[in-house]
Amino acid sequence: MEQVYVTGVGMTKFGTLDETITELAKSAALEAIRDSNALDAKFDYVLVGSQNPDEFTGVGHLSTLITDHLGLVPAGATRVETGPSAGSSAFEEAVALVKSGLAQLVLVIGVEKMSGIDRGAASKILAKMISIDSEAKLGGTPAALAALVARRYMHDYGLSRDDLSLIPVKAHKNGAKNPLAHFREEIALEKVSASKMVADPLTLYDCSPTSDGAASVIVASSKAAKTLGRTDDSVKVLAVGHATDYHAVQHRPCLTSLNATVSAAGKAFKMARLRPEDIDVCELHDAFSILELIDMEDVGLVKPGHAIDLVKQGETAIGGRIPVNTTGGLKARGHPTGATGVAQIRDVALQIRGKAPAGLQVKSPEFALTHNIGGFGNNMVVCIFGR
Ligand code: COA
Repeated sequence: MEQVYVTGVGMTKFGTLDETITELAKSAALEAIRDSNALDAKFDYVLVGSQNPDEFTGVGHLSTLITDHLGLVPAGATRVETGPSAGSSAFEEAVALVKSGLAQLVLVIGVEKMSGIDRGAASKILAKMISIDSEAKLGGTPAALAALVARRYMHDYGLSRDDLSLIPVKAHKNGAKNPLAHFREEIALEKVSASKMVADPLTLYDCSPTSDGAASVIVASSKAAKTLGRTDDSVKVLAVGHATDYHAVQHRPCLTSLNATVSAAGKAFKMARLRPEDIDVCELHDAFSILELIDMEDVGLVKPGHAIDLVKQGETAIGGRIPVNTTGGLKARGHPTGATGVAQIRDVALQIRGKAPAGLQVKSPEFALTHNIGGFGNNMVVCIFGR
């Protein structure tokens, strides 16, 4: 099978930004195209991951619009939507196109602009990804469901409030060193539990923000990577695993494990012929602090109930055995939903290339993993990369 490469990456700052959704997408894409030596190259496809640009911004037909603005007509253009895993799903489609021989060079963009409307309206749009009948109609939101999961996890495994606060503290510590992060200040442990309650027990600092931003990667066949002169610094795509779970949380057998992650990670490790202990650095979908612990367990890094032990031992920090969310994760890097998966891929690609921001580089990582959640825990994409 064709070996697929990531030959270039780009990303805008994440945060509350003045640029339009199209400007953000263009800016990240142009950086990735330049990084890939592909300014004069012919792209076969442009794939855009975006959760809900029509409602967040009023801009429709996004993939065609961006392709036109980038001067890439007549490349095929498609917008991919799987909720907040839209960026990873767009990447997955690009990998499939190149592996099948339908394409040699594909531009992938993840983008979302969420700050143009007030946060209440943004929350209502986000809540559309959860079950309308079983959850949203009853006042459910992603944060409320995460709170339910956190309570159950605390009950089953004895996780304390201060234990949970270690996750945002680490996220903000890393985010402070990431020039593109939404939040760049460190926070003290006490600040997490003292901040305003969002959905008991989750406070403001347990939640990812609603952000604006875009990220982009170039997916290429080995022939295209060679033509671009990008064989040395390119990152190998070793696997993509994608899986779903039942839409409503109440239909799932367990609250403290997300089965779609277990399935997606299982597929990815099988495809890459690797085991969780082979991974040197990973970006996990910590939309809410509790999810970072559950993700670590579901991906297979540690046994259920024991993720917090690794955190307490410093194993998930930059110098630890398995650094998690080195660039601040969704909590501090920010979470423009459709952009997140592509940002994760961009961040681990930089780790493998040895080009992570100062203070965030992991020592010579060979294998990296990204994990992106769509919906509330029901549409997951896990990718594995290598040198
Ligand atoms: N973490 C840290 N600070 C945050 C923040 C967050 N998640 N969200 C907002 N802030 C900051 C704001 O910048 C603001 O600071 P400022 O006054 O200096 O500008 C302050 O906290 C208060 O913001 P406010 O507008 O009152 O927050 P809010 O209550 O409207 O929204 C959340 C906070 C957590 C409810 C909102 O960010 C949210 O819904 N997050 C989850 C998004 C989500 O579900 N994503 C999909 C997951 S898959």
